[in-house]
Amino acid sequence: MANRSWAEPYKIKMVEPIRMTTREYRQEAIKEAGYNTFLLKAEDVYIDLLTDSGTSAMSDYQWAGLMLGDEAYAGSKSFYHLVDAVRDVYGYEELIPTHQGRGAEHILSQILIKPGDVVPGNMYFTTTRFHQEYAGGSFVDVIIDEAHQPDSEHPFKGNIDLAKLQAVIDEYGADRIPYVSFESDVNLAGGQPASMANYREVFEFCTKHGILVMLDATRALENAYFIQQREGGYHDKSVGEILAEICSYSDGATVSSKKDNLVNIGGFLALRDAELARRARALLVAFEGLHTYGGMSGRDMEALARGIYEMVENDDHVAARVGQVQYLGDKLIKAGVPIVRPVGGHGIFLDAAAILPHLPQTDFPAEALTAALYVDAGVRGMERGIVSAGRDPATGDHHYPKLELVRLAIPRRVYTQAHMDVTAESVVSVYQDREAINGLRFTYEPSELRFFQARFEPLS
Ligand code: F0G
Repeated sequence: MANRSWAEPYKIKMVEPIRMTTREYRQEAIKEAGYNTFLLKAEDVYIDLLTDSGTSAMSDYQWAGLMLGDEAYAGSKSFYHLVDAVRDVYGYEELIPTHQGRGAEHILSQILIKPGDVVPGNMYFTTTRFHQEYAGGSFVDVIIDEAHQPDSEHPFKGNIDLAKLQAVIDEYGADRIPYVSFESDVNLAGGQPASMANYREVFEFCTKHGILVMLDATRALENAYFIQQREGGYHDKSVGEILAEICSYSDGATVSSKKDNLVNIGGFLALRDAELARRARALLVAFEGLHTYGGMSGRDMEALARGIYEMVENDDHVAARVGQVQYLGDKLIKAGVPIVRPVGGHGIFLDAAAILPHLPQTDFPAEALTAALYVDAGVRGMERGIVSAGRDPATGDHHYPKLELVRLAIPRRVYTQAHMDVTAESVVSVYQDREAINGLRFTYEPSELRFFQARFEPLS
């Protein structure tokens, strides 16, 4: 089918109205929200690209599963469906269900990290690093340098640099490294994948040193798709086969099911080792819920089990999902807007440092650009720069991430190509008026995960 357009592999059966407001209305709304898009009311948003987390549209088959959810407190049928799905698709034997991804990160960090330990990872994720530090560990970034360069076209910017990993071992010793935290399709790098060769090498390297490999497999499906498209030897494999191979190079995984798995809530920790799983379940009952529901209702688990099978049922789903992101990215690249390249799996990342060179990082350029974009056409994105990076607990100073980005995350199966067109037009128009954008300062700065609830005011 050369030279033919592709279309979404579904049709729409139910709709939810959205409305465009006036510019004056949005100016007032963002001011009331302290210039933080997390604090806007969703009904004041026209196209909501805050996150791809928990915002997917479920299929009719998943909705039907909600009616069949088994709400037994213990031993729910839906739990066993979920156990089967995780074993069949991801290949892990031990399933510890949690209310969402950070629940799994909490349990994993508590069972493996001792105070003073070091956890190397391929770029931090906010909640993941929080739980590593909360358990007394510290995070060391071992991602390849290209991940920090928005315009590098490296096809696998999520790769771990083995020389950096070796240096961490040399400095701290392998016995202070409980595991390597290996994120698939690295969120804060712009949705950038790791290669299969890298998954394999890292696992072999760590196994040799007696260090576990724990995946953050939250977006491993999207990573698998990039491997299929970009890595030699994988073109003829299905994304399902590739996903299972990625997981085979690990000792376990945390998953926020609110992404790849096509549900609105849920997550899990999956392990191979039965003794580790026993320790995880012992904590689970205190923090999440009994080991056969872990914070999810029976219907949540039923929809999740179905979502896991559905995401790999054929390759059309993920091809259309990543294809839609690519469609928006191509439009912005064509218009000359600086974005992270190559276009990632779950969203577009605007390079706020390049767009607003007149603002120093301490004036929060990405936060300011996010607010300006909302005011222009009601498109809601999210800051992924210095505000998200937070402060170093030891020194109290900001972390200064090399990437100062605005993320426009695309929910799965929710918006059409026309919504992408409107988004692109708005981004281009804000880009053309970029010199008018002022910096911000905090009026309220929370001590933990500050980006969620921080408030700001314009500098002048
Ligand atoms: N790991 C990654 C890579 C994530 O992107 C997220 C969440 C989590 C873990 C935590 O999972 O939200 O279910 O507790 N990311 C969302 C986002 C919040 O918008 O990127 P959770």
